[in-house]
Amino acid sequence: MKILALGDIVGKSGVDALCATLWEIRRENGIDFVTANCENAAEGNGVDKASAERLLASGCDVLTSGNHVWKRNDIYSFLDDSPYIVRPMNYPSDAPGKGWTVVDARGIRVLVMNVQGTVYMESLDDPFRAVERTLEREKGGYDVAVLDVHAEATSEKAALARCFDGKITFVFGTHTHVQTADERILPNGSAFITDLGMCGPDDSILGVKCDNVIRKLRSKLPVRFEPAPGKVTLHGAVVTLGHKGGVYPVEKIERFVK
Ligand SMILES: [Fe+2]
Ligand SMILES: [Fe+2]
Repeated sequence: MKILALGDIVGKSGVDALCATLWEIRRENGIDFVTANCENAAEGNGVDKASAERLLASGCDVLTSGNHVWKRNDIYSFLDDSPYIVRPMNYPSDAPGKGWTVVDARGIRVLVMNVQGTVYMESLDDPFRAVERTLEREKGGYDVAVLDVHAEATSEKAALARCFDGKITFVFGTHTHVQTADERILPNGSAFITDLGMCGPDDSILGVKCDNVIRKLRSKLPVRFEPAPGKVTLHGAVVTLGHKGGVYPVEKIERFVK
């Protein structure tokens, strides 16, 4: 089995580029299951229902998200109703949506979880305990587990991956929009990469027009962030799993850039 996880999709150009090529990418690379982080898929941040539905119709099996998912109201009911989109599980329990889902991929039950870091981010519930509780609750109900750690600090992403090494098949980081070159199989067999990178415009700062970000950082005043124009690159990672006696051990993790 091959799983492709894609980093934060940024703006309409990111959605367009992904939707135009994802079925072809799946075919060319023999991908069985795709997750993609949709928290910035709407123009001007957040994710709207139409973009989420388009991504799901274009080859994404499950959408993960993060701190920006709350920006568009029309996604709230979709978060509640669709089993194919998740938000970080450690938000207060009355937040819309859920933090994990189990989806069938050709007979293999894939548990997709999403958690948010708390270092240099909102003070949400402890992400370690939240993941522990979810694994306990879903025990026996899945074959393969995937975790999107939406976090700012590289240490927090690595600590979560190490903490659940051998318990979660594939742990990847999102949120910082820059792909890291540390993809590896951890000592107890989990695949890990600190950040998948983004599916967004190259000539930008994290997907935003460079001059907007420079102005904001120099002036300290509010600046409207506009999506950068130009060519889009898709970033992520592909994990290949074997199959032995009902378990699916990680054989390989490779960075994905297209
Ligand atoms: Fe993001
Ligand atoms: Fe984020």
